[in-house]
Amino acid sequence: MNHSITPADEPNGYDDNEIVNPGANPHMNELLAARLSRRQALKGYVGVAAGALLGTSALSACGGGDDGTSGTATSQALSLAFTAVDKNKKDLVTVPAGYQVSILHALGDPLHYGDDMASWKDDGSESAASYNRRIGDGHDGMYYFGLSEAGAYQADRSDRGLLCVNHEYVVGPYALHANGRTIVNNVRTVAAEVEKEIYAHGVSVCEVKRGSSGTAMSMVRGSRFNRRITSATEMDIAGPVRGSALLVTKFSPTGVKTRGTNNNCANGYTPWGTYLTCEENYLNVLARAAGDNAKRSAKEVTALTRYGLPENRRSPYLWDTAGSDDLFARWTSSVTGAAAAEDYRNVFNTFGWVVEIDPFNPESAPVKRTALGRFNHEGAWPAPAVAGQPIVIYMGDDSRNEYIYKYVSKALWDAKDVGGGVAAGAKYLDDGKLYVAKFNADGSGQWIELSIDNPAIKGYAKYSFADQADVVTHARLAGDAVAATMMDRPEWGAVNPRNGEAYMTLTNNSNRIAPTATATSSSQLKPDAANPRYYEDSYTKADGTTAVNKGNPNGHIVRWREAGGSVAATSFNWDVYLFGAQADAPADVNLSGLTAVNDFSSPDGLYFDPRGLLWIQTDDGAYTDVTNCMMLAAVPGQVGDGGAATAAGGTATVKGANATPDTVRRFLVGPVECEITGIAVTPDGRTLFVNVQHPGEDGSLTAPTSHWPDSQANAASTRRPRSATVVVTRTDGGTVGV
Ligand code: FEO
Ligand code: CA
Ligand code: CA
Repeated sequence: MNHSITPADEPNGYDDNEIVNPGANPHMNELLAARLSRRQALKGYVGVAAGALLGTSALSACGGGDDGTSGTATSQALSLAFTAVDKNKKDLVTVPAGYQVSILHALGDPLHYGDDMASWKDDGSESAASYNRRIGDGHDGMYYFGLSEAGAYQADRSDRGLLCVNHEYVVGPYALHANGRTIVNNVRTVAAEVEKEIYAHGVSVCEVKRGSSGTAMSMVRGSRFNRRITSATEMDIAGPVRGSALLVTKFSPTGVKTRGTNNNCANGYTPWGTYLTCEENYLNVLARAAGDNAKRSAKEVTALTRYGLPENRRSPYLWDTAGSDDLFARWTSSVTGAAAAEDYRNVFNTFGWVVEIDPFNPESAPVKRTALGRFNHEGAWPAPAVAGQPIVIYMGDDSRNEYIYKYVSKALWDAKDVGGGVAAGAKYLDDGKLYVAKFNADGSGQWIELSIDNPAIKGYAKYSFADQADVVTHARLAGDAVAATMMDRPEWGAVNPRNGEAYMTLTNNSNRIAPTATATSSSQLKPDAANPRYYEDSYTKADGTTAVNKGNPNGHIVRWREAGGSVAATSFNWDVYLFGAQADAPADVNLSGLTAVNDFSSPDGLYFDPRGLLWIQTDDGAYTDVTNCMMLAAVPGQVGDGGAATAAGGTATVKGANATPDTVRRFLVGPVECEITGIAVTPDGRTLFVNVQHPGEDGSLTAPTSHWPDSQANAASTRRPRSATVVVTRTDGGTVGV
């Protein structure tokens, strides 16, 4: 999600990328001691042969060995084989000639049969409780797990599976309610509306199956695996923060349980067959009372401020105002009782985690894995599992000026754990090291461990960490303590199964200022080598006025190769794989040489499919005068395949090889005012799932701007726009994209 919730559609103006990093870290370009010459940096890349990074054991693991990972070969050369889709503003999902689109499920579709399970009526009349068994709103990250005849994880199965989908948020003021939200003087006076919103968030699990017709898939309504996890579902807390005083609430006085996962943006998956869902903009639903600071320690106030929850803050969704019932009252992180076990002062600390779900066991409780740290988690992307090596997961914190993280498990991967559910999760995800990334100007980088034993953390002047539970709960503050690199909003990551290199989108940053400018606040940052561009992009809006995007409005994608090819390495080399830009932008803005077939802005979703094809999705507000958001397919090279460059604004950087129509090509354009986010591909490469979030988000019930997904088949549709999952296949049944 990339929008500022405005008073027009939400009760309380809120920018979900609000800057809370005060920006005291040393600027990258000021770290002169670490700087090597450009020539030295580039020389450093030459020694590592492409494809040799992981060695033969890793490549055989990716190639379907006996470790239980996907059985799809990654040794064949990839070649894009479709005609690029033109940029457009149609109220349709447009795909290349020879491809077809069907709708798998949309907001409100029933997962089951029975009472209260009528089909979507298009008038918002569905009951609140029915959303425990209906598809939620705001489709986002997702993953496809092959399902065996016996009902277990079968990684290589393509014709039957479980599709897990995040439902990030309620797209106000449209489809969910009969007439939008009812708010009187900042109070949600209709409790059933709030109850419905609580259940419309979270995750859906549904069985999907190919019919006799070929490669397209449909939902198996009534499957015993179909399930909703919502913002009210009971879940366990595991890892270093389990039982900590930081998580004590009235609901769980011992700090071992909580309710709900919220604002689930992107996702991850584990090699043992569980789903990871990640909590991003949970500030949407949390309030804090006036005068609360006086009831807190100075340390608590520091933490609450760093994570963006000041006192006297109304929750944008106002859930806490819907009544005294615990279902609603728990959404204010305020001191109201004599002790933490008597109120919800700590509810704030129960969000911002990575949550593990076992889709194959509908009775199992989701588990918040605290060892992976707490921040605005976009997602959690694993490196390919290799027998005898740790599980490695890359993560980003999506707010301007925030950090990139990496988790390395203590336990070493053993393929016997495939199918082990959350018990396997406990083995790999509850004990490990959490690192934060520092990108140096010379193209090198370090992973700095966020450990209470690190003197910079233990002795941090601005926040006195008590223990490791405190460190991971306040990973942002620990990142500040070690001067991690502030990035242009880390969104999705992905790891190339062919060579182990990791990629992460940096979607945009309106807060970069010109290298020659004087900052007017400590959060304004000058460009640095890994976030190098400053420029202005102006365009004429529909009403004739001129809009100007400043900073890095089009975003970029950074990638890195771990030192020596070891996933557990603590240093890496990086470059900027691709810079978003309009094709007609100046050369120092359009640094990757994008053309009409592949120009894009604000990369967000990112996914290496099982074949090693890279998919790039956009959530844009800068190029939307020309085109709706889109998805591109790419065949990437490797770190160091480009060279030195100077970005708009004059900052030196290291970029990857220029894009060509053969290496990056537009595959899909979404409907009006949507975001394309969330993707999965079956192991055989024949079925592609893509999520379309918030079509028509700038319209209203009385003046709708989109009628998608109904408009996909009915150009005269007048129905409400809804977030949905689409299935894309080739009409000849062939593999998608290549
Ligand atoms: Fe939910 Fe960072 O996008
Ligand atoms: Ca996103
Ligand atoms: Ca986004």
